[in-house]
Amino acid sequence: MSRIAVIGTGYVGLTTGACFAHLGHDVVCADIDVDKIARLNDGEIPIVEAGVDKLVAEGLRSGRLRFVVGAATAAADCEFAYLCVPTPQSDDGSADLSFIETAAGEIAGVLPTEAIVVNKSTVPVGSTKVVERVMGRADVKVVSNPEFLREGSAVHDFLHPDRIVIGADDQAAAIKVASLYLGVPAPLIVTDPASAETIKYAANAFLATKISFVNAVAAVCEAVGADVNHVVLGIGYDKRIGQDFLKPGPGWGGSCFPKDTRALVKIASDHGYDFDLLKGVITVNDQQLQRVVAKIVRAAGGSVDGKVIAVWGLTFKARTDDLRESPSLAAVEALAAMGAKVQAYDPTVTAPRDGMTVCNDAYSACEGAAVLAVMTEWDEFRWVDIDKVVSLMAGANVVDGRNLLDRSAWQRLGMSVEGIGR
Ligand SMILES: NC(=O)c1ccc[n+]([C@@H]2O[C@H](COP(=O)([O-])OP(=O)(O)OC[C@H]3O[C@@H](n4cnc5c(N)ncnc54)[C@H](O)[C@@H]3O)[C@@H](O)[C@H]2O)c1
Repeated sequence: MSRIAVIGTGYVGLTTGACFAHLGHDVVCADIDVDKIARLNDGEIPIVEAGVDKLVAEGLRSGRLRFVVGAATAAADCEFAYLCVPTPQSDDGSADLSFIETAAGEIAGVLPTEAIVVNKSTVPVGSTKVVERVMGRADVKVVSNPEFLREGSAVHDFLHPDRIVIGADDQAAAIKVASLYLGVPAPLIVTDPASAETIKYAANAFLATKISFVNAVAAVCEAVGADVNHVVLGIGYDKRIGQDFLKPGPGWGGSCFPKDTRALVKIASDHGYDFDLLKGVITVNDQQLQRVVAKIVRAAGGSVDGKVIAVWGLTFKARTDDLRESPSLAAVEALAAMGAKVQAYDPTVTAPRDGMTVCNDAYSACEGAAVLAVMTEWDEFRWVDIDKVVSLMAGANVVDGRNLLDRSAWQRLGMSVEGIGR
């Protein structure tokens, strides 16, 4: 059992803290958000993330998981301090390290001798050195341990990762960090900090590339009359390609891919390499959103001005409440700017939002709608009462931005359904 401080209790930090406590460690999670910490201490989970509630309740009950305000309070008695703070995009596309530097500065003076600082945030190459400089402590080692969890299955991904990556100049520190994961069956890659930091960016860039690739193939499918779903099956059974991350849609979003792809382009350019391939991936993603918005406008008869557009799904993907860089929100914004009256429904969104009416269920979003647009792949949209939707809508057009619906069932009721790449 080790004493771990987790700095930042967002999607990554809360999952990390709850899972480490589940593995038997003594964990103190810190945040600057006083309200969030109060809610967590009451056992209330501020995010939608499957399984986190059970692990937090288990940790609070056992006393192995505590929540405090302020990084220094958490770090004063730890052996390991995990940095899980944001690394947002700066104006020039690079990762903004100010949260990392601030958090590191807050704990530098209070960390016990020989503590290890572990960077779990996604940070550019060289950030381990940045944290070391901020620490200014020869006895404190800084290790990179990037996180690969997916929102929506974060607990599962943390406890059953495809691999654990540890980057350290100091072998002993690397082994100590690796030992925290005893009981987690996964290949362990121990490398230098620069390689660990690059692995994280390269992984996200590759996944974004797969999605942009399939969206580009979907555009070709539309042009030549092929069905992208069949094409994906045909290529995905090839073990060298695989089925994962080959689902066409309105483009990738979320808190990671947009900033991490741009950060990698910037890192490459700062070091003299023009990462044209990745720039193309980003361009295809921007175009994909425009293509989906254009489909909605076409389905509305060439203009959405003054028309009701029903939007199902606002989060950037299903099984999370994360709205950051959501393609759906970008589409809503574009439609509202063209005069559309957007009626949106998302199972995780209840508060009012600008540019749309937030509805209580999928049906009320469809009342009087000229077009229904499916923007997030929430399972409940597959199982709606189609008759009821048809009777509520003013128009007969659906744009299925996720290829989620049973197209023939909708067509049997007289609806025209346009998907992606088919
Ligand atoms: N969200 C993901 O799916 C995911 C997956 C892998 C890696 N990452 C990376 O992990 C990092 C964190 O991402 P996230 O999605 O968990 O972010 P988040 O915004 O959900 O959470 C960050 C938390 O850190 C807190 N914080 C900021 N400064 C602090 C400080 N000085 N002391 C204590 N708390 C502080 C914030 O209040 C917030 O609660 C980012 O670098 C991200 O790129 C995210």
